[in-house]
This record gives sequence, structure tokens and C-alpha cells, in this order.
Amino acid sequence: MERTFLMVKPDGVQRNLVGEIVSRFEKKGFKLVGAKLMSVDRALAENHYAEHKERPFFGDLVEFITSSPVFAMVWEGEGVIATARKMMGSTNPADAAPGTIRGDYGVQMSQNIIHGSDSPESAKREINLFFSQDEALTYEKAV
Ligand code: CMP
Repeated sequence: MERTFLMVKPDGVQRNLVGEIVSRFEKKGFKLVGAKLMSVDRALAENHYAEHKERPFFGDLVEFITSSPVFAMVWEGEGVIATARKMMGSTNPADAAPGTIRGDYGVQMSQNIIHGSDSPESAKREINLFFSQDEALTYEKAV
């Protein structure tokens, strides 16, 4: 079954949005298979955001993501990568539709509350970066 990596960023944790965000994905019908509150160190941040290394905002991005804890998650379900991206809304909260997480709670591009993998390749890479094999579980769920 498809899996994706989602992360409530420092602004989302600071603003007490972890429960609300988990709840949205639970209610949608996806299965939570891994989750932890954690600090992101510089090496992990630079690795995670490697594709943005040459962008002018890279330094600020690394600074921000290492500034205070994040809530890292692995979610499972049919089409979860694309559907989670729809539920998150556009990267820039100013463009994100009401009803999406960023549309409802975000204002700034640099503090856009949540990160989600954008493809099966990045989902696999990001899950492996943030979670050891025994931290992402396999279990049956009745509903
Ligand atoms: P995320 O989905 O975590 O992936 C990369 C992040 O870089 C993105 O969310 C934004 O928070 C940030 N980002 C992308 N473009 C810009 C930009 N032009 N200025 C500042 N931050 C940006």
C-alpha cells in the first residue's frame, strides 16, 4: 500500500496544530503507521531539502526547520501521496484554497505549517531519512 511522509513544521507545532492535522488525515480514512515529535539537526535538514540547495531561501529554510521540534509522520492509503498534497493546499498559503490546511492556517510561504512528499520517489527517500525500519509499523485496522 502507498505511503507518504508528512511533517508538521515548527510553526505548526508551536501553534498547537498537531492534533488538528492528525485528525484531518484520520478522518479522511488514511492509516497512521509512524509518528514522532523530534528535533531536526542541520545535517538532516540539509539532506531533506537538498533539492533546494541552490535556492536563495535555502539557508532560512534550514534555519527554520531546525529552530524547534517538528512532528514527523508516515501515513498509508490508496493515493495518499497526491491526496495529502491536495489536503495541504498550495505551497504558498496565500494561494491555498480555504478548506486546505495551509489555506485555513497559513499566511507565509516560509512558514507553511506542513511538508508532504511530492512523489513516490521522494516519499520513499523521506520516510527512510526520518524513520528507521521498525518505527513505521504494519498493522491491520478494522475501519
Ligand atoms: P516544503 O513543502 O517544505 O518544501 C520546500 C519549502 O521551501 C516549502 O515548503 C516552503 O516552505 C519553502 N519555500 C519554497 N519557496 C520559497 C520561497 N520562494 N521563499 C521562501 N521559502 C520558500
